[in-house]
Amino acid sequence: MSTCYLNGTYLDLSEARVSVLDRGFIFGDAVYEVIPAPGGRFFGLGEHLARLERSLAAVQIASPMSAEDWCGILHELLVRNAAGDVSVYLQVTRGVAERDHAFPDNIRPTVFAMCKPLPAQQGLTRVSAITLPDNRWGRCDIKSTSLLANVLLRNEAVRRGCYEAVLVRDGLLTEGAASNVFVVHGGLVRTPPLGPGLLAGVTRELLITALRRDGCSVQEVDIGVEQLVSADEIWLTSSSRDLVCVDTLDQQRVGDGEHYPLAATALTALAAERRRRDSAA
Ligand code: PDD
Repeated sequence: MSTCYLNGTYLDLSEARVSVLDRGFIFGDAVYEVIPAPGGRFFGLGEHLARLERSLAAVQIASPMSAEDWCGILHELLVRNAAGDVSVYLQVTRGVAERDHAFPDNIRPTVFAMCKPLPAQQGLTRVSAITLPDNRWGRCDIKSTSLLANVLLRNEAVRRGCYEAVLVRDGLLTEGAASNVFVVHGGLVRTPPLGPGLLAGVTRELLITALRRDGCSVQEVDIGVEQLVSADEIWLTSSSRDLVCVDTLDQQRVGDGEHYPLAATALTALAAERRRRDSAA
């Protein structure tokens, strides 16, 4: 697990070095992806690389590599780490330059990638969460490493004995500090619509497709904070944790606090959709 990739070289993580003038270090001027590879096989690589390109374009970093080159590096990293159940963290910074908010043209982006074990997961995981005001910037659709607000929000949740902070802006649900959110009322699944206020999660899209394929009704609509209180089920999705079920929100139990039948269905549908895409690839 200790071999990483940095600017063209594979080396031990303990030996990887970047300049203190790297704009990723100085300004958080960088974008990233977390790509799951359960059993040492990437899942959704195409979708993650497409989102990486969108993030790079949005922050005006010229993409340093072709899709083919990205795939080559990432697969090589799995091989060199004899990877089992891992995710790959991939980060591209604007590069090294004298400190100045405005950036010069033509600096070489820094490219870094490493493997990390995926959290062990068996069946449906239940977690507790709290709601917090979404005080992040206005471009949460960009997967930027400038995550200070997310860091503080998630940390506040953990400090209060919870797993995730469910974020609310202007009375509407946006997403989790590091996850997308789904809310269920009487068999109807809802999730906030895409826009600058939240990340277009790869797992979010996968789950929507999977549920609709199974005939389940999913709406991408605004969700008022009051709808969280009356929800039968609340789910959080992310590439590293798939789908987890919130059983306690702000110290109140969600639904009956015991039975989350649609979450189990959703987890099965997600796995089936993965297998379907895997065999089509
Ligand atoms: N985070 N929203 C935010 C703010 C996130 O950070 C993430 C994932 C998601 C879910 O996106 P996806 O399904 O593509 O993983 C939504 C990753 C895992 C992280 O930062 O570690």
